[in-house]
Amino acid sequence: MENKLNKSILVTGCSSGIGAALVSEFLKQDFLVFGSIRDKKMERPLKKKYGDNFIPLVFDVTNYKQISKAYKKVKLTLKGANLGILINNAGIAKLGPVEHISSEEFDLHLKTMVLGAFNCVQIFLPLLGTKNKCSPGKVINISSGGGSIGSPFMASYCSSKHALEGFSESLRRELLIHGIKVIIVAPRAFKTAIWDKSNVDGRAVGYKKTVYNQAFDKFTNYINELSEQGRDVQVLARKIYKISSLKKPRVKYSMGPSGLQFYLTRTLPKKLVDKMLGKYFLLMK
Ligand SMILES: NC(=O)c1ccc[n+]([C@@H]2O[C@H](COP(=O)([O-])OP(=O)(O)OC[C@H]3O[C@@H](n4cnc5c(N)ncnc54)[C@H](OP(=O)(O)O)[C@@H]3O)[C@@H](O)[C@H]2O)c1
Repeated sequence: MENKLNKSILVTGCSSGIGAALVSEFLKQDFLVFGSIRDKKMERPLKKKYGDNFIPLVFDVTNYKQISKAYKKVKLTLKGANLGILINNAGIAKLGPVEHISSEEFDLHLKTMVLGAFNCVQIFLPLLGTKNKCSPGKVINISSGGGSIGSPFMASYCSSKHALEGFSESLRRELLIHGIKVIIVAPRAFKTAIWDKSNVDGRAVGYKKTVYNQAFDKFTNYINELSEQGRDVQVLARKIYKISSLKKPRVKYSMGPSGLQFYLTRTLPKKLVDKMLGKYFLLMK
């Protein structure tokens, strides 16, 4: 491990999906990889799976105290070296009409994806190069197509990802002073457990007796199709590795299928897109 201290990365939310793929990719690229999990029971199996160059950290991104404890472990392990890359990846996605979702669930999205990123950035900044400026690190924030498009039934998720992108832009400009780069990666539809965890079909049952019944059904079918067509996360992880090694990365990378659809949704006049989405998802005649 000693000779790897100059190539290190911390990935939040690595128990599954994109986070797990990032761990595998960066280990393959000879990095020392710190990966956060919430369930302490996963520590040992993951260590066994990934080997000596993987260091599990147990924290919830919404818990400042737990992250501060993990910071001490990372600092001790790095023995004075900087942390090369921090990837804020942890996230959740639960669907529902604003009229019916709970305030707690909305808040949980913001806490996980906005406050969580803030917590990790603030706590790990000293290791990313605000103290030791000889090799400034990079912050990569995992956003989404939902970071630039507002989709019906995804207000909690889209609000959080829009906010994460705003946070990233402020941070990128602020950290110019330290030479620490901030990059947004916005994936679209990669095969992970995110929608299974969201219990999309179960939720549809809950909205049966509301005015959104048909529209929500149509939308969940669309989400199920999208997740079935989802791309391989390992390909995404490889792309993120390549981005992380660029001297002059762009401020944002969007990647994944349905490029044209996302492009049109972003570039056509908003009122026209409202009409198209409204008709397609049975929200208007
Ligand atoms: N899959 C896609 O197509 C897609 C598209 C666009 C953006 N994204 C973004 O990619 C990121 C990863 O998602 P994924 O698709 O890989 O889903 P996933 O397999 O469900 O992974 C989400 C990870 O985040 C962790 N997590 C959730 N809440 C957390 C918290 N409060 N504290 C710490 N860890 C937490 C989960 O840990 P637990 O096991 O403990 O729950 C899990 O490891 C998310 O930010 C998501 O919005 C995904």
